[in-house]
Amino acid sequence: MSKKIFSGVQPTGNLHLGNYLGAIKNFVELNDNNENECIFCVVDLHAITVKQNPRELKDNIRETVATFIASGIDPKKSIIFNQSKVKAHSEAAWILSCTARTGWLNRMTQFKEKAGKDKEKASVGLYSYPVLMAADILLYDSTHVPVGDDQKQHLELCRDIAQKFNNDFNVDNFFIVPEPLIQKEFSRIMSLKDGTKKMSKSELSDLSRINLTDDADLIINKIKKAKTDPLPMPSNLEELEKRPEAKNLIGIHSSLTGINLEKLINEFSGKNFSDFKENLSQVLVDKILPISKEIKKLLNDKTFLDKILTDGYEKADKAASKKIKKIHEIVGF
Ligand code: TYM
Repeated sequence: MSKKIFSGVQPTGNLHLGNYLGAIKNFVELNDNNENECIFCVVDLHAITVKQNPRELKDNIRETVATFIASGIDPKKSIIFNQSKVKAHSEAAWILSCTARTGWLNRMTQFKEKAGKDKEKASVGLYSYPVLMAADILLYDSTHVPVGDDQKQHLELCRDIAQKFNNDFNVDNFFIVPEPLIQKEFSRIMSLKDGTKKMSKSELSDLSRINLTDDADLIINKIKKAKTDPLPMPSNLEELEKRPEAKNLIGIHSSLTGINLEKLINEFSGKNFSDFKENLSQVLVDKILPISKEIKKLLNDKTFLDKILTDGYEKADKAASKKIKKIHEIVGF
């Protein structure tokens, strides 16, 4: 059966290895399978849930498109567009916010993390953000949603919203209840400075992440400085489980090369971390540098990037407009 794939990435700059291994790499594989219909959305409405510099946002939207293309997504096969252009997203988000329950949103751990101690000062948008995410997915009858592990709870909420809407309005299967596509292993890449914290664009220290625009020297330097524990390389899987920084670095290697963990552990068992780090740096440079170079090249051709977004908008808007029309009828507008 053909799959309808939908996913989104926020254009907040500094797309990093976590975004790549947790999401974008899978987008490319899904895009390559001709049976799939894929939509990849640059979610600018989500980006403004925290303060953005308008000029930088505009540049970051193009940079996100450039990253998709440089990573291997083919805009002729997949629809790439920005969320704010398709008005149905904001509208569906409002309607679905009347289906979602505040108790459900109160349980979202990402809001708690992002709002921090001063919840009262967080924007309403940051709180209701998972409802907008549900609107994104449900407008396109998406069957599968590839994301990193941190989005799992938001997808569960999306499934609850779809089911409740279908029940409340007695419209069986109107909204397709989507399946998450989350990798079994290493769906959460951790910070290079703390193996218990997610790699993130909002982390202050740039040394905590490999950005997809980093050059070879930066990559090598960041891996050299990456936190490790004082012991030599682990010698079995059990030991690896107890050592978060080692687990993260070996996991990154395994995700990039496809070499399984046991094999990597056997190869480096008992050696110094510096040997492994040298090898990992090379793997990263081989994989990330061509992407980084291509992003920089594509950013010089704004017309090309804007054309991708306009073409994508036309296709996305057609599908979303049809669905929102039906939603109006169901709700009684
Ligand atoms: P965003 O922009 O924070 O992240 C984009 C994608 O990258 C994944 N990701 C990671 N995966 C593994 N390890 C990490 N350290 C890591 N950091 C980020 C995220 O899981 C995500 O898949 N709300 C979403 C965007 C969104 C969306 C959607 C996704 C909006 N609408 C509809 C799917 C469907 C977000 O803020 O992702």
